[in-house]
Amino acid sequence: MTVNDIPNDVKDLSLADEGQRRTEWAEQFMPVLRQIRERFAAERPLEGKRLSACLHVTTETANLAVTLQAGGADVALCASNPLSTQDDVAAHLVRDHGIKVFAVKGEDKESYYDHIRAALAHRPDVTMDDGADLVGALHMIALGRLDDLEGPVRPWVNAMSPDERSALLKAVIGSTEETTTGVIRLRAMAEQGVLQFPVIAVNDSQTKHLFDNRYGTGQSTVDGILRATNILLAGSTFVVAGYGWCGRGVAMRARGGGAEVIVTEVDPLRALEARMDGYRVMPMADAARVGDVFVTLTGNAEVIRLEHMRLMKDGAIIANSGHFNVELDLEDLAQAADGPRAARQFVDEWLLEGKRLYVLGEGRLINLAAAEGHPASVMDMSFANQALAAEHLVTGGSMLSKAVHRVPVEIDERVAELKLAALGVRIDSLTPAQQQYLASWDAGT
Ligand code: NAI
Repeated sequence: MTVNDIPNDVKDLSLADEGQRRTEWAEQFMPVLRQIRERFAAERPLEGKRLSACLHVTTETANLAVTLQAGGADVALCASNPLSTQDDVAAHLVRDHGIKVFAVKGEDKESYYDHIRAALAHRPDVTMDDGADLVGALHMIALGRLDDLEGPVRPWVNAMSPDERSALLKAVIGSTEETTTGVIRLRAMAEQGVLQFPVIAVNDSQTKHLFDNRYGTGQSTVDGILRATNILLAGSTFVVAGYGWCGRGVAMRARGGGAEVIVTEVDPLRALEARMDGYRVMPMADAARVGDVFVTLTGNAEVIRLEHMRLMKDGAIIANSGHFNVELDLEDLAQAADGPRAARQFVDEWLLEGKRLYVLGEGRLINLAAAEGHPASVMDMSFANQALAAEHLVTGGSMLSKAVHRVPVEIDERVAELKLAALGVRIDSLTPAQQQYLASWDAGT
């Protein structure tokens, strides 16, 4: 088989050498995934299964895709965001591993959905999502909601018979979901009785969100803002919208860089936590007047609206690191302001009522648009969970109900143990007396 026989849509296959070098670099920091790959190669738990993944096409995802392939899966990969693809990595996966990749950095909406279509045309037994776009499209097809299908997916489905459409969905054993926003969407599907197969919420495992969302997003979001703007953090006023796992990480890293951090929240507990962690907490309408840099990480829509942008200072910088760019009301901004003018790469200048506002990365995940996403060391754990969750679906998915399931606790603990071992960290274990003490209720004071 030559590279020409592999269905793909990537920018330029001649970038593959660079993609290979960078993927090998990331692999060094992914010891847990490497161990899983070695076991998968020996045991082939995914043998003969077609797997379609909709993930950010990065060096870390390349290592996951190769691990799944080592386990016997026939892998197709499309992007989960139009701006997050690393074109050299996409080329490397096609040329050196024969993986079907459909992703080009900066692709328009039409191409984005054409690539989703290509991943579905792979007729997967297992899907892997980062934001639930694949699962969403599959269910639209099954429900006959063809008008809701985006772009090129619709004519492709229209050309199928009803039997072919339902076969597409029925073939799927289950799916895994990488991020908070995807889990929220999938839970809504399950609650509305729409979800037709089990989904494993990789995001909810401890070895994912405690580390990836907090430390990964924390570091890479600040990295993306700095790479896009080259601003000095020290002495700036940095507004973080949303004090969830991601927001905590960003706030922590911005403060570490010398910024004064303001948090905005809608949840009283999270707001209280932010206050006790030492941040100023206020509504966005107040923060808008004083912030130099704004970043949203809520998983919600319209968090920074035109009414807030009108209050901002000349030169304010606005970014989003939540899953979708709907956190910023960019449509209203485009209506009311002049622009955009490219001030720098990944920086659009808008002129709003005499003030310059700078929107980074078109409001898309700034850590992936302007930087390289999370460091490999933290994706090691997230993607170890993904690989083991895929194995769990293939070996035991038929026993799972059509709902959103947690990653089994044994997988979570195993990933933590492997990571600790890789970091050279040893811990104590319970003595028999301690085990007995913890299991008792009658030992007095
Ligand atoms: P989370 O659920 O832990 O936190 C979200 C927080 O936002 C909550 O505390 C919620 O109360 C708050 N919030 C909701 N609406 C708000 C509003 N209007 N104003 C202020 N706060 C509001 O979620 P998590 O895990 O922190 O994820 C946040 C987003 O980041 C999601 O879209 C997730 O998919 C995405 N994500 C992005 C990553 C990246 O690489 N940039 C990595 C992981 C997750």
